[in-house]
Amino acid sequence: MTRFLLYFLPGAGHLAAPLAQELGADIGEIEFHKFPDGETYLRFLTPPDGRHIALVDCLDRPDPKLIPLLFAAMTAKDLGAKSVGLIAPYMPYFRQDIAFHRGESISARHIGSLLSTHLSWVTTLDPHLHRLAGLDDVFTIPGELAHATAPIAQWINTHIESPIIYGPDEESEQWVKSIAEACGAPYDVFRKTRLGDRNVQIEVPPGMAASDHTPVIIDDIISSGTTLATLVRTLCESGQPRPICCAVHGIFAEDAYEQLIAAGAARVVTTNALPHKTNAIDVTGALADAARRIALPED
Ligand code: R5P
Repeated sequence: MTRFLLYFLPGAGHLAAPLAQELGADIGEIEFHKFPDGETYLRFLTPPDGRHIALVDCLDRPDPKLIPLLFAAMTAKDLGAKSVGLIAPYMPYFRQDIAFHRGESISARHIGSLLSTHLSWVTTLDPHLHRLAGLDDVFTIPGELAHATAPIAQWINTHIESPIIYGPDEESEQWVKSIAEACGAPYDVFRKTRLGDRNVQIEVPPGMAASDHTPVIIDDIISSGTTLATLVRTLCESGQPRPICCAVHGIFAEDAYEQLIAAGAARVVTTNALPHKTNAIDVTGALADAARRIALPED
């Protein structure tokens, strides 16, 4: 059986031991240095030549991470790696999947095209697939999806008695529905209108009755925290118990976590796709399964 060689880029080190163990993979080392002017130096300390390698890169706050990733992929190929895959626990730029206004960059397509040029395959965890049908819509290399729904449902089943699952908008229904089904819980999905980066309106049914269930709000991304904080406030105002917020990707821009707590969230829980103090749900098994499905050719 081919044995992977994994390299963890800055910011992904929390996944090194569990992912290497799940995949039975070796861990390689790359030295990174930032020059005073911000340019990146990198050097492979563990040779990738003759190996199938994967770069593991979280890719939240992506712009400063993309050049090191692309340089690492190109260098690995220069050094004779047989294949260079990408395990990205978070895939950035997928929310800009159409030109909403004339002249806009369709960032999802551009990130797919950029990464496809330099990598052999890609796997990622629950990317924001709304108007995109799948990874094939933006990548020209083989892609494989990993899903956090089973580990999230397992966490809810273990920790929450009598949950009701809520989604803030129609995009969240794909996660909300399958998690609710796996938990045998009722669910509802609301309607969101985004008016700005930190301004959303969420409509819940008028006169929504308080229930005996514990509300668990599920979303794929907590970025500014505005979406979930708005729903938390709306639910509390309608007499519901303080909700638990649960997200696949906890980006937590600026004071997003504090905003959620101030809005009334009883607890905020995320997967360990991105490192944060709210991490409570382990997705390394899901990432490893997806990587194994796509990337272990027999030599
Ligand atoms: C958008 O449709 C996503 O599913 C999330 O709801 C959104 O990205 C969350 O962003 P924020 O935390 O900035 O409201």
